[in-house]
Amino acid sequence: MFRQEFIERNAFLLLVLTLVTIAIGGIIEVVPLFTIETTVEHVKGIRPYTPLEQRGRDIYVREGCYVCHSQQVRALRDEVERYGHFSLAAESMYDHPFQWGSKRIGPDLARVGGKYSNDWHYAHLSNPQSVVPESLMPAYAFLAETPLEADDIVARLRTLRAVGVPYTDGEIANAAVDMATQASPNADNVELLKRYPKAVTVPGNGRVVTEMDALVAYLQVLGTMVNFADPANERLQQ
Ligand code: HEC
Repeated sequence: MFRQEFIERNAFLLLVLTLVTIAIGGIIEVVPLFTIETTVEHVKGIRPYTPLEQRGRDIYVREGCYVCHSQQVRALRDEVERYGHFSLAAESMYDHPFQWGSKRIGPDLARVGGKYSNDWHYAHLSNPQSVVPESLMPAYAFLAETPLEADDIVARLRTLRAVGVPYTDGEIANAAVDMATQASPNADNVELLKRYPKAVTVPGNGRVVTEMDALVAYLQVLGTMVNFADPANERLQQ
């Protein structure tokens, strides 16, 4: 009793003890979130990007596609009807940085993978109005003329591993081969698909891998990793 009165009459002490009490509660709530394993549940099918997809993602970020496109289907009826299953946290767990975005001048791209053919994407990125006459999206034809910088791919994957993307030693060692394979339709891609299921091979131009090839490979995998028809994922449907 006496101690309570003492504390209540001493404004500074009361303030300090209040802050300490709140801090304890805060720490208990916040600290577990730093261990990402317990925060984001693992969902079957989610894998790191292939080297080519990852480089395509770099181009996407560099060109600022996120200024006009979000990558997050909200759990709202109109969104789910237009784009498909709402986005799961696990679907962007290997994204550094994530591309959820906040602005939609163009449509959401979280589930654009498989929606169009490779040819459609090449045509659309080169000249959007050639396939969507009313489009106000700018043209990115130069990407098809720009060879993809690939020398540093091993360092890039290593860096991503350092921040938590689980690339294996084998995946890192094969990065250059996997990148070339994904941009050559006639190459044997069995090993690539073993390492990275659902990787979409892009046509390439037969001479050099371009930034456009990488970007299309990236767009084609968006939202396709989780099989929502799989009974193992039934709980996610709710
Ligand atoms: C100035 C805004 C703007 C920018 C920047 C932009 N887009 Fe678009 N994008 C649009 C609009 C508007 C549409 C809808 C019309 C159309 O399909 O062209 C669109 C459509 C798309 C579509 C088709 C989506 C669908 O579901 O039909 C893809 C894929 C796409 N953009 C990719 C990109 C990529 C990749 C970049 C960056 C290299 C990019 N966009 C940059 C405005 C933009």
